Amino acid sequence: MTVALIGPSEDRELRAVATELDARGTEWAVWDTDHWPGEVPLSFDVASGIRTTVSEPIQPDSLSAVYVRRIGFDLRNSDFADELDTRPYSLVNQLTEYRGLLGSVLRYLDDRGIPIVNAPQTMAVHRLKPYQLARFADAGLPVPKTLTTNDPTAAMEFVEEVDEVIYKPVAGGGHARIVTAEDLEPDRLERLSNAPVQFQRRLDGTNYRLFVVDGDIVATAHILSDNLDYRMGPHEVETIDPPAPVAAAASRAADCLGLAFAGVDIIVTEDSFRILEANPSPMFATFDERAGTNVAGHLAEFLE
Ligand SMILES: Nc1ncnc2c1ncn2[C@@H]1O[C@H](COP(=O)(O)OP(=O)(O)OP(=O)(O)O)[C@@H](O)[C@H]1O
Ligand SMILES: [Mg+2]
Repeated sequence: MTVALIGPSEDRELRAVATELDARGTEWAVWDTDHWPGEVPLSFDVASGIRTTVSEPIQPDSLSAVYVRRIGFDLRNSDFADELDTRPYSLVNQLTEYRGLLGSVLRYLDDRGIPIVNAPQTMAVHRLKPYQLARFADAGLPVPKTLTTNDPTAAMEFVEEVDEVIYKPVAGGGHARIVTAEDLEPDRLERLSNAPVQFQRRLDGTNYRLFVVDGDIVATAHILSDNLDYRMGPHEVETIDPPAPVAAAASRAADCLGLAFAGVDIIVTEDSFRILEANPSPMFATFDERAGTNVAGHLAEFLE
């Protein structure tokens, strides 16, 4: 049995899982998404299976699991910058076609009962932050008061109602920032029509990152930083035992989004906590290094 690892072959998370699979004597094969678009073969038909660089076609039943680190085919990847300039429409079509093929393979494997960490349908929640919060709230999990809008009037009303507000991208991939008086100037607020934004009550507490594998909390750290968004500057990562309700909430958050593997961000305040998001393909290689945890090992064990 083989574990398929999907992502760029040099990706640190992918390498860390491969190392842990080696340590367990489990076979693995990388489907290097950096090969595509390109001349490296990728064929699929239901009769003969999946053909990639590996000479023999891969039959679904020979796979014990699939780890999807990153599908790729993302226009925001800087590798595509030049082509995006010179031939935007054909590039968009090309990536859509590749996504269609690999997406079909994954969905088919999922239908056949091969565990996929995480399956494409659930992976999509990464870009659906407002959905995540709504889902958590419906499941009875505590979330920060949040409004996602492209409407300056609605944004203004939210800011007037909530004491201190931060804003951040709807689909992630940016930083959280505090809403300032300048942000509320009409010229700037009008720019909301360019793209909606998430406005959220600022939480004053400690950032927790919990890694969930198959419902279990396999690592937790709190992240100490002087910045609102810790990724904007130096920060300390220290392992810690999460309070039981926080651990239970992280596991539940992953479960209600159907995620077998997740990195859940929670802010723990003096007397309570709020869930920010569950990341379906979290980075953990640096985290393991800095915090002395073994997320890669737990993930490998699950894949095996
Ligand atoms: N309401 C908030 N109050 C205080 N700090 C916040 C708040 N929301 C976000 N932050 C800070 O910004 C960081 C990033 O926010 P969040 O985890 O919600 O989304 P994200 O990580 O930007 O999404 P992605 O990982 O997809 O880029 C948090 O870990 C936290 O440090
Ligand atoms: Mg986050």
